[in-house]
Amino acid sequence: MSKTYYITTPIYYVNDKPHIGHAYTTLACDVLARFKRLDGYDVMFLTGTDEHGQKVEKAAEVAGVSPQAFTDQVSQNFRDLTAKLNFSNDDFIRTTEDRHKAACQKIWSILRESGHITLGKYEGWYSVRDEAFYTETELLDGKAPTGAPVEWVEEPSYFFNLSAWQDKLLKFYEENPDFVGPESRFNEVKSFVKGGLRDLSVSRASFKWGVPVPGDDAHVMYVWLDALTNYVTATGWPVDGAAGDAEKHARLWPADLHVVGKDILRFHAVYWPAFLMAAGLPLPRRVFAHGWWTNEGHKISKSLGNAIDPNHLADIYGLDQTRYFLMREVPFGNDGIFSVPALAQRINGDLANDLGNLSQRVLSMIFKNCDAVMPALPASPSADDTALLASADELLALVRQHIDQQAFHEALRKIWQVISRANRYVDTVAPWALKKTDPVRMSEVLAVLAETIRQVAILAQPVMPDSAAKILDQLGVAADQRDFSVLDGKTRLASGQAIAKPEPVFPRFTDEG
Ligand code: MSP
Repeated sequence: MSKTYYITTPIYYVNDKPHIGHAYTTLACDVLARFKRLDGYDVMFLTGTDEHGQKVEKAAEVAGVSPQAFTDQVSQNFRDLTAKLNFSNDDFIRTTEDRHKAACQKIWSILRESGHITLGKYEGWYSVRDEAFYTETELLDGKAPTGAPVEWVEEPSYFFNLSAWQDKLLKFYEENPDFVGPESRFNEVKSFVKGGLRDLSVSRASFKWGVPVPGDDAHVMYVWLDALTNYVTATGWPVDGAAGDAEKHARLWPADLHVVGKDILRFHAVYWPAFLMAAGLPLPRRVFAHGWWTNEGHKISKSLGNAIDPNHLADIYGLDQTRYFLMREVPFGNDGIFSVPALAQRINGDLANDLGNLSQRVLSMIFKNCDAVMPALPASPSADDTALLASADELLALVRQHIDQQAFHEALRKIWQVISRANRYVDTVAPWALKKTDPVRMSEVLAVLAETIRQVAILAQPVMPDSAAKILDQLGVAADQRDFSVLDGKTRLASGQAIAKPEPVFPRFTDEG
C-alpha cells in the first residue's frame, strides 16, 4: 500500500466572508496535497469551518438569524471558495456535524475521567474576537496583545491542567526538532512554554452555542478544544463511535502537517499537543506557521474594509496566475505585501514572458516547421542539450526538498531557473536560423526544449493545475503520464505524435482593462 500523507488547514470561523488570508492557507495545503499525490502518496487533505463559540453566536445575532442557519449559510461560502480556487480537499468538516460533536465529547470524557479536566471558576479577561483568555499582565492599553477588545469574565469553568504538561512539551520539542516551522517561530513557542503554563479554561457557561459538556449541560466546550479536535474527527475517531472507522484512523493519524497562520500557532503547537498527550493520542508530525498578507502594507481588517476577495482575484487576474503569485511572491513563513503591480509583474514576467513565451515559441515552431509532429530527441546530444536536460532531470529532487520544508517560493524559483536556462538555450542555438541550414538539428533542438517544458509543466501542476494541463495537452502528454514517476530522466517525451496548433496559455495583463 502506498504511503499516506494527511494534511490539514485551520478550520475557518464563519463569522465573516472568506478573504485572501483564508485562501492563502488552503492554497498552500492544496499545493502540498497535489504535490504529494503526484509523488505517489495516498493523500488526505482536510479543510472546513469552525462554527461554534461566542464570536459566531454574536455574528448570527447581528444577522438576525439562528446560529445554525447563519453557519449553514456562511460555511457554504467557504465550500464554494474551495471549488472556485480549484482546491482538491478530500473532506470538508463542519464542527456542527454529529461526527464532530461525538469526537469532542469523547476527548472531553477521556480528559475528565483521567483527571486532566476539573471544575473551577474563571476570573479574567476574554477576547471574543480572538476566542482567547488573557491575563492582566498580557494586556496592552487595556486590549489583547493582538489589539482585540477584551471583556471581564467571571463564571464557573472547567480547567485543563495545562501547567502539568510543561516539561513533557519541552521534552517533546527537544526530541522533535522539525515539529514547528519556521525555526524562528519554534523558538518563540519554546520560550513561551519555558516561561510557564497556566491551566486553561476549557468550558464556558455564559452562552449556549457550542458542544455541550458531557454530564454538565450548564457548560459548552471552549471553542478551541472543540475546533482542534476536528483534525482527529475526520480520521474516523472515535473508532467505536457511530461515525468511527478504525482502519481509516490508523491509516491517517497522526497528521503529517497542520498548516496554520502565525496568529494561531500557540493553539496548535502548545495546547493541541498537550490535549493529545493527555488523551493518549499520538502527536502530529509537524505544524507550519505562515505569515500574514497586508493590503499594500496595511493590516487587512473588517473595520478598514480593505479585505481582498480571492474570488475577485481569480476573476480578474486568472486563477492560476493568482495561485502562482501567492506561492511565489513571499517566502512561506514571512509576511507579504499584496499589491496589484507586484501581481502584474509576476503575471507578465514569470508567466507570460518566461514560461508562456517559451512554450508558445517552441510549440509554434514544431507546428510550423516539423509538420505539427513532435520531433525526436538527438541520438548524440550536444553539450548544451545535455546540460539543459540534466538541469530538468535534477529538478524533482530539488523541488521535493523545498516542498518538504514548505518553501514554495524556493521550489518555484528552482523551476524557473530551468525555464530561464531553456530560454537562454533557445537564444543561443536559434532554432529558427537552423530551419534552412540544418533542419535535422532544428528538430532535435525543439525536442530538447519540448522535453524540458514537459518536466517543468509536470512540476508546475500543483501550483497551476489548469495551465500546466493545457501545456501538457499541447505537448501531447497522455493523462496517465503526468505524475512524478515520469520525471528525472526516467522517461522522455514521446515523439511522432501530432500536435494541435498551440494557443498561448498565459495572456499578458494590461491595466487598460
Ligand atoms: N477558527 C480558527 C482556527 C481553528 S483551527 C483548529 C481561526 N479561524 S480564522 O478564520 O480566523 O483564521 C483562519 C486562518 O486564516 C488562520 O490561519 C489565519 O492566520 C489566516 N489568516 C487570516 N488573515 C490573514 C492574512 N491577512 N494573511 C494570511 N493569513 C491570514 O483562526
